[in-house]
Amino acid sequence: MSLNTSQVASSGPDENILLEIKNLSKHFEGLKAVDQVSFSIKPAELIGVIGPNGAGKTTLFNLLTGFLKPTAGEIFFNGKNITGWPPFKISKIGIARTFQLVRPFRFLDALENAMVPHIPQNILAKSSTLRNKAIWSLITVDLAEKKNYPAFILPHGDLKRLDIARSFAVQPRLLLLDEPFSGLSYEEAFRIQRLIRDAHEKGMSIVIVEHKLKILMKLVERVLVLDRGRLIGEGSPKEIANNVEVINAYLGTEAKEYG
Ligand SMILES: Nc1ncnc2c1ncn2[C@@H]1O[C@H](COP(=O)(O)OP(=O)(O)OP(=O)(O)O)[C@@H](O)[C@H]1O
Ligand SMILES: [Mg+2]
Repeated sequence: MSLNTSQVASSGPDENILLEIKNLSKHFEGLKAVDQVSFSIKPAELIGVIGPNGAGKTTLFNLLTGFLKPTAGEIFFNGKNITGWPPFKISKIGIARTFQLVRPFRFLDALENAMVPHIPQNILAKSSTLRNKAIWSLITVDLAEKKNYPAFILPHGDLKRLDIARSFAVQPRLLLLDEPFSGLSYEEAFRIQRLIRDAHEKGMSIVIVEHKLKILMKLVERVLVLDRGRLIGEGSPKEIANNVEVINAYLGTEAKEYG
């Protein structure tokens, strides 16, 4: 029996969509932290999420990674409904994140910190395999030479890159970075931009939440804007800089710099 091509095409997941969220909401008592947000992300896209403090950006990441369960709505990854899945299962299918505030295991060294995400997947593997994978992720972020330094003596810029090394450990298809440039010098921020560009060139989809718009608006292809839990704008950096609702809610006079 020959298969009709349109039947084949419609039976599997849409290969042009990696992540799709539909009417996603998270309420904390009366507060609508995320309010009926819908959007999708293609494979190998580089996206920025911006908006005022308290707009719901970190909450959105917490929903996508299973740290919070949505009040309503659905999340699809690679065509699979992953709504309500726990964090370990979500990381296993290829979604990784970093945190707004870096939280390393302070008394483990950099190598041990980079090994932590491998442990659940490699509990029976030889520790040398585990070390090699962790060393590879430290090399990727330029931290291999500090692999034996305890985390508590590493400067903030190194800890930000260590957090990224940990997120690379699961070889994610989608990486969510929550304020990767916060508190960094120009040079440190530049190193992280380079890491992001390299990972993106290798085909990783990356979503960056950031207030440092001078960096972000040049780096990303598309921007989503949240305000009080709602998605109020979506488009290229240039389109966003000319969006009146976004200017009023967040960008103000700064918009001119990105238009
Ligand atoms: N676990 C929680 N319990 C109750 N309220 C919460 C919780 N997490 C977040 N909120 C509230 O939800 C709203 C959105 O917070 P969120 O941290 O997502 O904002 P954000 O856009 O990441 O802000 P920022 O730019 O300051 O990091 C805020 O009003 C916050 O106080
Ligand atoms: Mg936040």
